[in-house]
Amino acid sequence: NSFFIKPSLLANKKVLITAGPTREKIDPVRFFSNRSTGKMGYALAESASNAGAEVILITGPTSQLIPSNVKKIIQVESAKEMFEQVMAHYQESDIVIKTAAVADYRPIITFNEKMKKQTGNLVFELERTTDILKTLGEQKKHQLLVGFAAETEQIEEYAKKKLQSKNLDMIIANNVSEEGAGFGTDTNICTIFKKDNQRIQLPLMSKIEVARAILLEIEKLLPFGEN
Ligand code: CTP
Ligand code: CA
Repeated sequence: NSFFIKPSLLANKKVLITAGPTREKIDPVRFFSNRSTGKMGYALAESASNAGAEVILITGPTSQLIPSNVKKIIQVESAKEMFEQVMAHYQESDIVIKTAAVADYRPIITFNEKMKKQTGNLVFELERTTDILKTLGEQKKHQLLVGFAAETEQIEEYAKKKLQSKNLDMIIANNVSEEGAGFGTDTNICTIFKKDNQRIQLPLMSKIEVARAILLEIEKLLPFGEN
């Protein structure tokens, strides 16, 4: 009945959230990056904080306003910096949600002075960055691990592959080329896949609503959750 308010299972849980893009330096004025704006990750940080969680937000460069209820924010630029900060806070975390769009490659060589243009083409050699989420999966102990999958085709197949190969408890897949979903929009269309093969299709919703829906599903996976 209305007199009974169920306390959130997220209360006092330590939730590590990564958000935004990374920037991989070329020279002092240039970098490689991607279209992530941080909206989904910041919505999750705000929503989890509202539910009483202790949020650590590790974020790449974005123009999002920092939610006033999020106490701990760590700003990073590169995939390497994000990796180091995430690893430093992994042990103390109960739940990790990896919303960030981490660069898969970075330039092998970076320049300390601005590159001058030359005649002819320019070729960049790139090397792989560390897969942060995969590393977390390999070192998982008590933590609940949640990933995102940004796809443009074969959404379900690729997302399920990532769920398994990264040892996740849940993955949220979205078609980033679909209208109303993906980078920069205020809305998203997501499908949640859980380790136990459960599949939950969310309708087109605002990112803050998507965040609440994801957190509700995470709560169900916690001890005493109703799964
Ligand atoms: N991720 C990560 N570290 C990376 C790359 C990705 O932690 N170096 C995480 C993302 O934060 C996301 C998940 O892995 O939660 C899936 O990212 P995505 O780019 O969709 O998949 P990848 O595994 O990088 O594979 P691909 O880009 O080839 O589809
Ligand atoms: Ca990737």
